[in-house]
Amino acid sequence: MSTTTIGWQVLLFFSLLSLISVIGQVSYTIPEEMTKGALIGNVAEDLGLDVKRLKSGKARIYTGDSAEYIELNKEKGVLLIKDRIDREALCRQTVPCAINFQIIMENPMEFYSVVIEITDVNDNPPTFERSEMKYEITESALTGTKFVLDRAIDRDVGVNGLSSYTLKPIDNFVLKTISRGDGSKNVEMVLQKQLDREKHEHVSLILTAVDGGEPQLSGTMQIVITVLDANDNAPVCSKPEYKASVTENSPVGTVITTVSATDIDKGNNGKVSYIIPKSEEAGNFEIEVYTGVLTLAGNLDYEKRKFYELDVQVVDQGGLSDACKVIVEVIDANDNKPSINIMSKSLSISENVKPGTVVTMLNIQDLDSGGNGKVQCVLDENIPIAMKSTTNTFFTVVTESDLDRERASEYNITVTCSDEGVPSLSSSVTLTLQISDVNDNAPVFERSSYEAYIVENNTPGLSIFTVKARDADWNQNARVSYILEDSSVNGVPVSSYVSVSADSGVIHAVRSFDYEQIKDFHFRVKAQDGGSPPLSSIASVKILIQDQNDNAPQVLYPVQTGGSLVAEMVPRSAEVGYLVTKVVAVDVDSGQNAWLSYKLQKATDRALFEVGLQNGEIRTIRQVTDKDAVKQRLTVVVEDNGQPSRSATVIVNVAVADSFPEVLSEFTDFTQDKEYNDNLTFYLVLALAVVSFLFITCLVVIISVKIYRWRQSRILYQSNLPVIPYYPPRYSDTLGTGTLPHVYNYEVCRTTDSRKSDCKFGRAGSQNVLIMEPSSTGTMQRIQNENSILDEPDSPLEVRIISLSC
Ligand SMILES: *[C@@H]1O[C@H](CO)[C@@H](O)[C@H](O)[C@H]1NC(C)=O
Repeated sequence: MSTTTIGWQVLLFFSLLSLISVIGQVSYTIPEEMTKGALIGNVAEDLGLDVKRLKSGKARIYTGDSAEYIELNKEKGVLLIKDRIDREALCRQTVPCAINFQIIMENPMEFYSVVIEITDVNDNPPTFERSEMKYEITESALTGTKFVLDRAIDRDVGVNGLSSYTLKPIDNFVLKTISRGDGSKNVEMVLQKQLDREKHEHVSLILTAVDGGEPQLSGTMQIVITVLDANDNAPVCSKPEYKASVTENSPVGTVITTVSATDIDKGNNGKVSYIIPKSEEAGNFEIEVYTGVLTLAGNLDYEKRKFYELDVQVVDQGGLSDACKVIVEVIDANDNKPSINIMSKSLSISENVKPGTVVTMLNIQDLDSGGNGKVQCVLDENIPIAMKSTTNTFFTVVTESDLDRERASEYNITVTCSDEGVPSLSSSVTLTLQISDVNDNAPVFERSSYEAYIVENNTPGLSIFTVKARDADWNQNARVSYILEDSSVNGVPVSSYVSVSADSGVIHAVRSFDYEQIKDFHFRVKAQDGGSPPLSSIASVKILIQDQNDNAPQVLYPVQTGGSLVAEMVPRSAEVGYLVTKVVAVDVDSGQNAWLSYKLQKATDRALFEVGLQNGEIRTIRQVTDKDAVKQRLTVVVEDNGQPSRSATVIVNVAVADSFPEVLSEFTDFTQDKEYNDNLTFYLVLALAVVSFLFITCLVVIISVKIYRWRQSRILYQSNLPVIPYYPPRYSDTLGTGTLPHVYNYEVCRTTDSRKSDCKFGRAGSQNVLIMEPSSTGTMQRIQNENSILDEPDSPLEVRIISLSC
């Protein structure tokens, strides 16, 4: 501290205390911050005062109204520190800094000035008012931009005062100090290198101020810089090209991919929008403007377009942009059915085509690709038609085996084509193929042989029955005509018996048949179709003629002659059961129609006679008495068993008498009823003569016959010759199943007056063998030769009537 400073202070002091006499002055220099009680100096000695005087003079320190930092020790006469002295508090920046006080004494009153200069001690570091300064600096700030910083304050003075600043780090800023007029310095930091928010959004700097003391003290302040974003970065797509795929026919709104772009700027500068510029391709897509999600906005068809290349523009709010591509591949979906196109087809083919004949040509296409477009075609099974492929897309439908219109006249060929997609799609088409007929089937009769019945006496033209043949072919080839094959029946062309209706196969009788003449016949009918050449088949037909009861029984015996009278004689001595006679009748019908029964219709005395129902034998049923009339007249009805039955009536005259004259006399009356009364006498005479003659002849004949038969039986016995047969006229039974299955032996009793008998009998001496040939109608042949009988093993039924005498 310089003396001039002290002198100025003293002067000031004097001016204040001008009334008090100043005797002496002393000054000391002490550092600030000395401890309490520390010695400042021996003021008594320095002022040249005696310690006693101090006591006696009640020396005291006078500071006026300022604080008392110093105390006086009167015993030792020294000044001591009473209170801590802070130079900075006392003097601030004033230099030099001194404490002035007086030591006042009484008796005598005098005072001494004491000046204590306080020297600075470096006890204050430089300090900043704020511990932190905040700046917001845009990253686009240019270099050279200055930012004023707070100054630091060091309350110390001199070398202990503020000396210099440092700033760390110095990446972006440098520190610049500018001296001010008052000797202080302004501090600035200058941007030396541009900030980059994207690298460091917050920059922290430490500003350090140091003083020049020893030891050096320092103070710091933090400078926090928030770097404000500038749109200095364009958005960047994460990939230059995106690849995505989407199945065709996906619904609108299907997410395809997400385009992402990043903009490292902040806020709106980093907010990216995605845009697809309008174009034809873009119409099918939509991108969400802020998320970049690409979705489907239309319908994609793989068959039209297989991929899309989209330009996506990414833009931030500041207008910076980037572009990228999205390649959308369309994946095929199995959305197309195979299409079947008929290139050519036959509507109809002949049934005799060879296997392998092409029926239809098809072209099959599927717009899909890969397996979705790979097509397999099948036909229905169980039809003789197959499918062949020539190439992938061309198919032919061919016959696989022989066709038969009769089995199947048309085929519905369903071609089903399916692709190999999952799920598979298929389509089908049905072709109708008609099989045209070839005459390959002959008509076939329902039966190979027919048997039909017709009742005799039919009307000519009656239809007997119908033959039917079927032909499996079609139309003209199946039109059957019936033709009667030429043949003959009993030497007569069959066409005179029957005719066949060509169209209907109805067989008509041409004539009326007579069972008694012909019982059956055969012929053949041909069925022929209308094909070219025609095919035919044959059936044999047997017509059986059925009997009708068209013949009444014929009475063979007794012979009914106009007015002649034949009577059977019954002796009065006849026993019960005496065989009077036998009514013999035949019926040329057969079966029931020829089954004859005999009944007594009328009788003179019903109690005397009976007729055997089956055999026609007339027997007595009681003893004949003398009372019985000679003349008995019986009416016998012969009835067949047909429906309706036919009958014949025969009158049998019986004479109950022992002698012929008796009879005669009786029968005179008997015949008187007759219309021949006039000639009765003549007839009687004539009859008598004839009877006599016949009787003789009869006797001769009988004897001859007896002799002959005796000889004959011997011959027959030796040669097994059958008995002599006699066949009634118009009788034949070719079947051997006729009405008279047995050999009938009739004994014919000839009366003496059977004048008009037409009973045929063999003449004596001749071999009366009469055979009716089965084929001939009533023709009798007299066969002389016995051996010819033996040659006829199948000789039909024989009826023999043997003439016998009464
Ligand atoms: C073929 O189809 C037609 C029409 O659907 C039908 O009338 C006919 O009966 C079918 N034919 C065969 C053989 O199935």
